[in-house]
Amino acid sequence: MTNSYRQLFELHDQVAIVTGGGRGIGLAIAEGLGSFGAKIVIGERDPVLADNAACQLREQGIEAMAVVTDVTDHAQLTALFDQACAEFGELDILINNAGVSARIPAEDYPRADLQQMIDLNLTAVFQGMQEAARRWIAHGKGGSIINLASFAGVVADPLSAPYAATKGAVVQLTRTCAVEWAQHGIRVNAIGPGYVRTEMTAHTLDTPEAGAVIQAKTALARAARPDEMVGAAIYLASEASSYTTGHILMVDGGWTAM
Ligand SMILES: NC(=O)c1ccc[n+]([C@@H]2O[C@H](COP(=O)([O-])OP(=O)(O)OC[C@H]3O[C@@H](n4cnc5c(N)ncnc54)[C@H](O)[C@@H]3O)[C@@H](O)[C@H]2O)c1
Repeated sequence: MTNSYRQLFELHDQVAIVTGGGRGIGLAIAEGLGSFGAKIVIGERDPVLADNAACQLREQGIEAMAVVTDVTDHAQLTALFDQACAEFGELDILINNAGVSARIPAEDYPRADLQQMIDLNLTAVFQGMQEAARRWIAHGKGGSIINLASFAGVVADPLSAPYAATKGAVVQLTRTCAVEWAQHGIRVNAIGPGYVRTEMTAHTLDTPEAGAVIQAKTALARAARPDEMVGAAIYLASEASSYTTGHILMVDGGWTAM
Protein backbone atom coordinates (compact mmCIF):
# COMPACT_ATOMS: atom_id res chain seq x y z
CA MET A 1 0.00 0.00 0.00
CA THR A 2 2.77 2.44 0.94
CA ASN A 3 4.04 2.80 -2.62
CA SER A 4 0.56 3.53 -3.93
CA TYR A 5 0.02 6.47 -1.56
CA ARG A 6 1.74 8.66 -4.12
CA GLN A 7 -1.11 7.86 -6.53
CA LEU A 8 -3.79 9.09 -4.15
CA PHE A 9 -4.07 12.50 -5.76
CA GLU A 10 -3.79 11.27 -9.36
CA LEU A 11 -6.62 12.41 -11.64
CA HIS A 12 -5.34 10.93 -14.87
CA ASP A 13 -8.09 10.83 -17.54
CA GLN A 14 -10.76 11.99 -15.10
CA VAL A 15 -13.20 14.48 -16.62
CA ALA A 16 -14.00 17.60 -14.62
CA ILE A 17 -16.48 20.41 -15.27
CA VAL A 18 -15.59 23.72 -13.62
CA THR A 19 -18.42 26.24 -13.69
CA GLY A 20 -17.34 29.87 -13.73
CA GLY A 21 -13.85 28.63 -14.55
CA GLY A 22 -12.95 31.61 -16.69
CA ARG A 23 -11.07 33.39 -13.93
CA GLY A 24 -10.44 33.56 -10.20
CA ILE A 25 -10.84 30.53 -7.96
CA GLY A 26 -12.45 28.42 -10.70
CA LEU A 27 -9.57 28.92 -13.11
CA ALA A 28 -7.00 28.14 -10.40
CA ILE A 29 -8.85 24.92 -9.51
CA ALA A 30 -9.08 24.00 -13.21
CA GLU A 31 -5.30 24.41 -13.52
CA GLY A 32 -4.74 22.37 -10.37
CA LEU A 33 -6.97 19.46 -11.39
CA GLY A 34 -5.52 19.58 -14.90
CA SER A 35 -1.97 19.44 -13.56
CA PHE A 36 -2.90 16.14 -11.87
CA GLY A 37 -4.13 14.75 -15.19
CA ALA A 38 -7.82 15.69 -15.36
CA LYS A 39 -9.45 16.76 -18.60
CA ILE A 40 -11.10 20.10 -17.97
CA VAL A 41 -14.36 21.52 -19.28
CA ILE A 42 -14.78 25.19 -18.46
CA GLY A 43 -18.46 26.17 -18.21
CA GLU A 44 -18.25 29.95 -18.25
CA ARG A 45 -20.78 32.64 -19.14
CA ASP A 46 -18.28 35.15 -20.56
CA PRO A 47 -17.10 33.93 -24.00
CA VAL A 48 -13.76 35.76 -23.87
CA LEU A 49 -12.91 34.47 -20.39
CA ALA A 50 -14.04 30.99 -21.41
CA ASP A 51 -11.79 30.89 -24.48
CA ASN A 52 -8.82 32.45 -22.72
CA ALA A 53 -9.07 29.98 -19.86
CA ALA A 54 -9.18 26.95 -22.18
CA CYS A 55 -6.19 28.32 -24.15
CA GLN A 56 -4.25 28.97 -20.95
CA LEU A 57 -4.88 25.39 -19.79
CA ARG A 58 -3.91 23.89 -23.15
CA GLU A 59 -0.68 25.92 -23.12
CA GLN A 60 0.13 24.08 -19.88
CA GLY A 61 -0.39 20.74 -21.62
CA ILE A 62 -3.82 20.18 -20.08
CA GLU A 63 -6.63 18.73 -22.21
CA ALA A 64 -9.26 21.44 -21.97
CA MET A 65 -12.31 22.83 -23.71
CA ALA A 66 -14.63 25.73 -23.04
CA VAL A 67 -18.40 25.68 -23.34
CA VAL A 68 -19.95 29.13 -23.09
CA THR A 69 -22.64 28.53 -20.49
CA ASP A 70 -24.90 30.61 -18.32
CA VAL A 71 -25.46 28.06 -15.57
CA THR A 72 -28.71 29.76 -14.54
CA ASP A 73 -30.20 28.70 -17.89
CA HIS A 74 -31.18 25.07 -17.42
CA ALA A 75 -30.96 24.19 -21.13
CA GLN A 76 -27.43 25.64 -21.29
CA LEU A 77 -26.44 23.78 -18.13
CA THR A 78 -27.64 20.48 -19.59
CA ALA A 79 -25.85 21.24 -22.86
CA LEU A 80 -22.63 21.82 -20.89
CA PHE A 81 -22.82 18.29 -19.45
CA ASP A 82 -23.76 16.82 -22.86
CA GLN A 83 -20.83 18.51 -24.62
CA ALA A 84 -18.39 17.57 -21.88
CA CYS A 85 -19.37 13.89 -22.16
CA ALA A 86 -19.42 13.93 -25.98
CA GLU A 87 -15.90 15.40 -26.16
CA PHE A 88 -14.09 13.82 -23.21
CA GLY A 89 -16.27 10.88 -22.05
CA GLU A 90 -18.20 10.42 -18.84
CA LEU A 91 -17.91 13.03 -16.14
CA ASP A 92 -16.06 12.25 -12.90
CA ILE A 93 -15.83 15.59 -11.09
CA LEU A 94 -18.10 18.62 -10.87
CA ILE A 95 -16.73 21.87 -9.46
CA ASN A 96 -19.77 24.04 -8.77
CA ASN A 97 -17.89 27.33 -8.60
CA ALA A 98 -19.81 30.04 -10.50
CA GLY A 99 -21.19 32.54 -8.02
CA VAL A 100 -21.80 36.19 -7.34
CA SER A 101 -21.53 38.34 -4.22
CA ALA A 102 -22.77 41.77 -3.20
CA ARG A 103 -22.16 44.03 -0.22
CA ILE A 104 -25.37 45.94 0.46
CA PRO A 105 -27.07 46.79 3.77
CA ALA A 106 -29.71 44.12 4.34
CA GLU A 107 -32.55 46.65 4.66
CA ASP A 108 -31.74 48.12 1.21
CA TYR A 109 -31.21 44.89 -0.71
CA PRO A 110 -33.18 45.09 -4.03
CA ARG A 111 -35.64 42.29 -4.69
CA ALA A 112 -34.48 41.74 -8.29
CA ASP A 113 -30.86 41.35 -7.16
CA LEU A 114 -31.96 38.88 -4.51
CA GLN A 115 -33.62 36.64 -7.08
CA GLN A 116 -30.56 36.80 -9.38
CA MET A 117 -28.29 35.79 -6.54
CA ILE A 118 -30.53 32.89 -5.56
CA ASP A 119 -30.75 31.77 -9.20
CA LEU A 120 -26.95 31.58 -9.52
CA ASN A 121 -25.63 30.77 -6.04
CA LEU A 122 -28.34 28.32 -5.05
CA THR A 123 -30.62 27.09 -7.86
CA ALA A 124 -27.86 26.63 -10.47
CA VAL A 125 -25.63 24.91 -7.92
CA PHE A 126 -28.41 22.45 -7.02
CA GLN A 127 -29.29 21.86 -10.68
CA GLY A 128 -25.63 21.17 -11.47
CA MET A 129 -25.54 18.64 -8.62
CA GLN A 130 -28.73 17.01 -9.90
CA GLU A 131 -27.44 16.87 -13.47
CA ALA A 132 -24.22 15.14 -12.38
CA ALA A 133 -25.95 12.76 -9.96
CA ARG A 134 -28.69 11.71 -12.42
CA ARG A 135 -26.07 10.76 -15.01
CA TRP A 136 -23.90 8.92 -12.49
CA ILE A 137 -26.85 7.04 -10.98
CA ALA A 138 -28.13 6.06 -14.45
CA HIS A 139 -24.70 4.70 -15.39
CA GLY A 140 -24.05 3.01 -12.04
CA LYS A 141 -20.95 5.14 -11.63
CA GLY A 142 -19.72 7.28 -8.74
CA GLY A 143 -18.27 10.77 -8.84
CA SER A 144 -17.18 13.73 -6.78
CA ILE A 145 -19.06 17.02 -6.46
CA ILE A 146 -17.28 20.00 -4.94
CA ASN A 147 -19.34 23.10 -4.21
CA LEU A 148 -17.87 26.50 -3.47
CA ALA A 149 -19.41 27.59 -0.19
CA SER A 150 -17.87 30.37 1.93
CA PHE A 151 -16.96 31.33 5.46
CA ALA A 152 -20.06 33.52 5.10
CA GLY A 153 -22.12 30.34 4.86
CA VAL A 154 -21.24 29.40 8.43
CA VAL A 155 -20.59 32.68 10.30
CA ALA A 156 -21.99 36.21 9.93
CA ASP A 157 -20.43 38.54 7.39
CA PRO A 158 -22.23 41.89 7.73
CA LEU A 159 -23.53 43.49 4.49
CA SER A 160 -23.74 40.06 2.86
CA ALA A 161 -27.04 38.69 4.17
CA PRO A 162 -28.45 37.22 0.92
CA TYR A 163 -25.01 35.98 -0.17
CA ALA A 164 -24.49 34.39 3.24
CA ALA A 165 -27.94 32.80 3.01
CA THR A 166 -27.18 31.24 -0.37
CA LYS A 167 -23.83 29.93 0.88
CA GLY A 168 -25.49 28.54 4.02
CA ALA A 169 -27.88 26.79 1.65
CA VAL A 170 -24.92 25.38 -0.29
CA VAL A 171 -23.53 23.99 2.97
CA GLN A 172 -26.81 22.16 3.65
CA LEU A 173 -27.21 20.98 0.04
CA THR A 174 -23.72 19.55 0.36
CA ARG A 175 -24.41 17.67 3.57
CA THR A 176 -27.89 16.45 2.61
CA CYS A 177 -27.04 15.25 -0.89
CA ALA A 178 -23.84 13.63 0.40
CA VAL A 179 -25.97 11.45 2.66
CA GLU A 180 -28.65 10.79 0.01
CA TRP A 181 -26.21 9.88 -2.73
CA ALA A 182 -23.59 8.00 -0.70
CA GLN A 183 -25.28 4.71 -1.67
CA HIS A 184 -24.48 5.54 -5.32
CA GLY A 185 -20.78 6.17 -4.71
CA ILE A 186 -21.25 9.89 -5.16
CA ARG A 187 -19.31 12.06 -2.74
CA VAL A 188 -20.39 15.66 -2.13
CA ASN A 189 -18.14 18.12 -0.34
CA ALA A 190 -17.63 21.87 -0.24
CA ILE A 191 -14.75 24.28 0.08
CA GLY A 192 -15.36 27.23 2.39
CA PRO A 193 -12.93 29.97 1.39
CA GLY A 194 -12.18 33.01 3.49
CA TYR A 195 -11.44 36.21 1.60
CA VAL A 196 -9.63 35.38 -1.64
CA ARG A 197 -8.26 38.16 -3.84
CA THR A 198 -10.17 37.87 -7.13
CA GLU A 199 -12.18 40.26 -9.27
CA MET A 200 -15.13 39.42 -7.03
CA THR A 201 -13.41 40.83 -3.94
CA ALA A 202 -10.77 43.27 -5.25
CA HIS A 203 -13.03 46.28 -4.71
CA THR A 204 -13.76 45.31 -1.10
CA LEU A 205 -10.20 44.30 -0.31
CA ASP A 206 -8.88 47.61 -1.66
CA THR A 207 -10.96 49.71 0.74
CA PRO A 208 -9.00 50.97 3.77
CA GLU A 209 -11.43 49.32 6.21
CA ALA A 210 -11.02 45.88 4.65
CA GLY A 211 -7.37 45.52 5.61
CA ALA A 212 -8.24 46.12 9.24
CA VAL A 213 -11.12 43.62 9.10
CA ILE A 214 -9.00 40.92 7.46
CA GLN A 215 -6.25 41.54 10.00
CA ALA A 216 -8.67 41.29 12.90
CA LYS A 217 -10.74 38.34 11.70
CA THR A 218 -8.24 36.07 9.96
CA ALA A 219 -5.70 34.17 12.01
CA LEU A 220 -3.27 34.31 9.09
CA ALA A 221 -3.97 38.08 8.87
CA ARG A 222 -4.22 38.29 5.08
CA ALA A 223 -6.49 37.45 2.17
CA ALA A 224 -5.77 34.26 0.21
CA ARG A 225 -4.53 33.86 -3.34
CA PRO A 226 -6.79 31.80 -5.64
CA ASP A 227 -4.11 29.10 -5.91
CA GLU A 228 -4.42 28.53 -2.16
CA MET A 229 -7.84 26.91 -2.83
CA VAL A 230 -6.33 24.32 -5.18
CA GLY A 231 -4.96 21.80 -2.67
CA ALA A 232 -8.39 21.37 -1.11
CA ALA A 233 -9.96 20.83 -4.53
CA ILE A 234 -7.41 18.20 -5.56
CA TYR A 235 -7.90 16.41 -2.25
CA LEU A 236 -11.69 16.41 -2.49
CA ALA A 237 -11.70 15.43 -6.17
CA SER A 238 -9.30 12.51 -5.81
CA GLU A 239 -9.04 9.08 -4.17
CA ALA A 240 -7.21 10.82 -1.34
CA SER A 241 -10.62 11.78 0.04
CA SER A 242 -12.38 8.47 -0.64
CA TYR A 243 -13.78 8.41 2.93
CA THR A 244 -14.69 12.11 3.05
CA THR A 245 -18.23 13.17 2.17
CA GLY A 246 -20.65 15.81 3.41
CA HIS A 247 -17.68 17.83 4.61
CA ILE A 248 -17.21 21.60 4.43
CA LEU A 249 -13.46 22.11 4.17
CA MET A 250 -12.78 25.62 5.43
CA VAL A 251 -9.84 27.20 3.63
CA ASP A 252 -10.23 30.50 5.40
CA GLY A 253 -6.93 31.36 7.04
CA GLY A 254 -8.49 30.55 10.41
CA TRP A 255 -11.43 32.99 10.08
CA THR A 256 -14.00 30.52 11.45
CA ALA A 257 -11.60 29.23 14.10
CA MET A 258 -11.49 32.64 15.80
N1 LIG B 1 -13.25 35.45 -3.70
C1 LIG B 1 -13.61 35.18 -2.44
O1 LIG B 1 -13.17 35.81 -1.47
C2 LIG B 1 -14.59 34.06 -2.17
C3 LIG B 1 -14.82 33.70 -0.83
C4 LIG B 1 -15.70 32.69 -0.54
C5 LIG B 1 -16.35 32.02 -1.56
N2 LIG B 1 -16.11 32.38 -2.86
C6 LIG B 1 -16.85 31.68 -3.90
O2 LIG B 1 -15.95 31.12 -4.84
C7 LIG B 1 -16.57 31.12 -6.13
C8 LIG B 1 -15.65 31.79 -7.14
O3 LIG B 1 -15.40 33.11 -6.70
P1 LIG B 1 -14.34 34.08 -7.41
O4 LIG B 1 -13.86 35.00 -6.36
O5 LIG B 1 -13.39 33.31 -8.22
O6 LIG B 1 -15.35 34.91 -8.36
P2 LIG B 1 -15.08 35.69 -9.73
O7 LIG B 1 -16.19 36.69 -9.83
O8 LIG B 1 -13.69 36.17 -9.85
O9 LIG B 1 -15.30 34.54 -10.82
C9 LIG B 1 -16.59 34.01 -11.04
C10 LIG B 1 -16.64 33.46 -12.44
O10 LIG B 1 -17.98 32.94 -12.63
C11 LIG B 1 -18.46 33.40 -13.89
N3 LIG B 1 -19.92 33.44 -13.86
C12 LIG B 1 -20.70 34.36 -13.24
N4 LIG B 1 -21.98 34.09 -13.46
C13 LIG B 1 -22.03 32.97 -14.22
C14 LIG B 1 -23.09 32.21 -14.78
N5 LIG B 1 -24.37 32.57 -14.61
N6 LIG B 1 -22.78 31.11 -15.50
C15 LIG B 1 -21.47 30.75 -15.70
N7 LIG B 1 -20.44 31.46 -15.21
C16 LIG B 1 -20.72 32.55 -14.47
C17 LIG B 1 -17.85 34.78 -14.05
O11 LIG B 1 -17.88 35.22 -15.40
C18 LIG B 1 -16.44 34.53 -13.51
O12 LIG B 1 -15.59 34.05 -14.51
C19 LIG B 1 -17.92 31.79 -5.97
O13 LIG B 1 -18.93 30.82 -5.79
C20 LIG B 1 -17.74 32.60 -4.71
O14 LIG B 1 -18.97 32.87 -4.05
C21 LIG B 1 -15.25 33.39 -3.18
